Amino acid sequence: MKINLANIKKAKKLLNKSECVAIPTETVYGLAGNAYSDKACKKIFKLKNRPKNNPLIVHYYNYRNLIKDCSFNNNFIELYKKFCPGPITFVLNLKKNSKISKFVTNKKNTLAVRFPKHPVARNLLKRINFPLAAPSANLSTKISAVCSADVKEDFGKKIKYVLEGGKSSIGIESTIIDLRGKPKILRLGGLENSNIQKLLKEKIKIYNNPSKISAPGQFKIHYSPGIPIRLNVEKKINDNEAYLLIKKKRINKPNYYFLSKKGNLKEAARNLYSTLRKIKKEGYKSIAVCKISNNGLGKTINDRLSRASKL
Ligand code: TXA
Ligand code: MG
Repeated sequence: MKINLANIKKAKKLLNKSECVAIPTETVYGLAGNAYSDKACKKIFKLKNRPKNNPLIVHYYNYRNLIKDCSFNNNFIELYKKFCPGPITFVLNLKKNSKISKFVTNKKNTLAVRFPKHPVARNLLKRINFPLAAPSANLSTKISAVCSADVKEDFGKKIKYVLEGGKSSIGIESTIIDLRGKPKILRLGGLENSNIQKLLKEKIKIYNNPSKISAPGQFKIHYSPGIPIRLNVEKKINDNEAYLLIKKKRINKPNYYFLSKKGNLKEAARNLYSTLRKIKKEGYKSIAVCKISNNGLGKTINDRLSRASKL
């Protein structure tokens, strides 16, 4: 990806004025604003139509910029050294004297932080002197955006500027891990749990008790393409229904959409949201999804599709 400095400077100028700008990241596009500015953070909630009690993730260039806002422990250092920048978000304790806007955290004393790897996001973060609050750049409960056209489709002219960064290489949101006390995963994501477990040398619980939600990304209805989804379908595709497959089939019909030619799960994750958007645009009334193995990124794909199916 070639860096266009003029574009980055334009984004910086707007962010400095507490405006919101959509930015590319390797997971999905984010709707970014100055995390120290109440004005900018209020705008993010309004644009997304996001409930005020759903806190925002804050994006940093590196851990040095984080020190004044959060305290962290050895688990953080281990994971940071191995996986950052990358598709992992940490929930940490917020420091009392941090300047993070109270709108980011909904006045809570925890903060979700991430260090994106996308070169455009990194270049921008390096040039500004505040971190960026940025939820995924889509309307609340809908599918995340994986390219600038997706963002424009959802927000039209409501967003002042969309910083171009091509198609997101991971294509699915970051894995969220709560590192206060015993580590627990709050949202499955682009980084496989097994990699985290291997590094920390302990079994890590996936926390998906809906009555005790602490990451509303866990809410059941989420990531919806706007049409019904049926899961684990092996035969009998209905009229006007698209069939979503992980791997290309030998018999291919016009309503068959495969996420990866050879069934590679990384590639499938990368293509998931854009394919769902495409199916909707082509006018299908529903989507049948094949059975997907619940291993590695398959787990994340199943998580998103199962929430998207709860329409
Ligand atoms: O890959 C990603 O994480 C993307 C890119 C743009 O960085 N961002 C993203 O943001 O997916 P969002 O807002 O769509 O999802 C963040 C999730 C939400 O479910 C939110 O509830 C949760 O993180 N979250 C934010 N702050 C939290 C906190 N302090 N404790 C627990 N969960 C938190
Ligand atoms: Mg989101």
